Amino acid sequence: MNHLSDVSLLGASPWWRPNPGTCLVIQGGRPLVGTYGVSGAKNAVLPLMVSALLTPRPVVLDNVPAILDVAVLSNLLQRLGADLTWSTGRTGRALTVCAERIHPRQIDRDLVARMRASVLLLGALLARCGEASLPLPGGDAIGLRGIDFHIAGLRAMGAEVEVNGGLIHATAPYGLCGAEIVLPQPSVGATENLLLAAVLAKGQTIIRNAAREPEITDLAQCLTMMGAAITGIGSDVLIIQGGRELAGADYTVMPDRIELGTIACAAAVTDGEVLLRHAHAELLGTARPAFAAAGVVLEDVRDGVIARRSPAGLTGIDIQTRPYPGFATDLQSPAMAMLATAAGASAITETIFEQRFRHVDELRKMGADITVLGTTAHVRGVDRLAGARVMATDVRAAAALVLAGLGAKGDTVLDGLDHLDRGYDGMAEKLVACGAVITRDKIG
Ligand code: EPU
Repeated sequence: MNHLSDVSLLGASPWWRPNPGTCLVIQGGRPLVGTYGVSGAKNAVLPLMVSALLTPRPVVLDNVPAILDVAVLSNLLQRLGADLTWSTGRTGRALTVCAERIHPRQIDRDLVARMRASVLLLGALLARCGEASLPLPGGDAIGLRGIDFHIAGLRAMGAEVEVNGGLIHATAPYGLCGAEIVLPQPSVGATENLLLAAVLAKGQTIIRNAAREPEITDLAQCLTMMGAAITGIGSDVLIIQGGRELAGADYTVMPDRIELGTIACAAAVTDGEVLLRHAHAELLGTARPAFAAAGVVLEDVRDGVIARRSPAGLTGIDIQTRPYPGFATDLQSPAMAMLATAAGASAITETIFEQRFRHVDELRKMGADITVLGTTAHVRGVDRLAGARVMATDVRAAAALVLAGLGAKGDTVLDGLDHLDRGYDGMAEKLVACGAVITRDKIG
């Protein structure tokens, strides 16, 4: 990802501090010990911010993470005509979005092209304004990531959608109408987009084979607080009685379960003990028993989870990524970085995205023994990784390489920090507070 214009981001997110031209230097081998505050979830806050476009009333979001994706989306919402105000909330940084008037044509193509979640603007703008026009969304280079399910669902609700020259143009001159939609596979983004559209559409919408990720539940709960009528929340059939005018809401963004799982693995790899505050282990779905089998002990306590390595040490396990509650694809690369030094072999199969093994070459540079055959990475645990210069290729790969560096012997230099900044609020600083030695250096 190229560096975004700092000036254009600062207006909408005064807290944003870009670090162009820097890398992280991680001195490995220190146990992580202390308290790590888990931030609000990236993949929950983005759809929640978009939901504010559905009402002219203010929507207050608490526990908003200070990440690049939030800065980019803030900027997009502001350009669409929303007023954004930042304040100190109950749990963290709070954002008030007031979309009293919206200008659906004012989309910044450059910004949209950089962030996959911007496709959610399609459903919300169509529902609120009857039209939306945006470039095909960008995001991490981890697979094809089509938006055909989104488009088919919106068409079923009466939208006219054209895709031409990399641009999506959608209109619903007579408004959207409820429909029964069966998703070919449980897509997180399509479920969210259709949910956003359905709450303002006339009549009943049923989304079958809906994704069940907790971030979708967060969105549905916020929409309910705004006055939407949604049943089946948390299940794979969502039933929405649409057409009600929505009010504002005051909603706290859920904790980031991917940050939780990643730092739990880091505590285990470094043989430390970390209290992960503001999160609970149940959020991990089946990753929880998988981690337990690998030797990551997770103990729920008041206001958090304590993570440490089992006295028996880390052992190889087999993992298949699956939609929630299955093992999250976003935890696949951190898990691989951990299993690279577990005793025995692991087979990690990626079933969601086609190109999500780009961290493998980087882990190999650090001495990991990993062979990829088709969609499965075969990992043979080595005693210890060695520090190396590595490049983050997507947001989760960045976190995986931080984790690998924490456990490695010697210094790891991590480039591609935009990726880390996209999804993690102050991860390096929070790790330093737990005893890690991490500095930022100029790339040279
Ligand atoms: N798919 C299609 N057509 C569609 C929609 C999806 O073919 O219209 C395919 C995708 O190509 C992919 C699969 O379905 O192979 C699943 O995609 P999904 O729509 O569920 O993913 P997404 O909405 O694009 C969100 C998260 C991802 C996370 C996935 C899976 C956000 C902003 N992104 O993506 O997060 O990996 O769900 O859980 O919520 C990340 O945070 O690093 C990240 C990539």
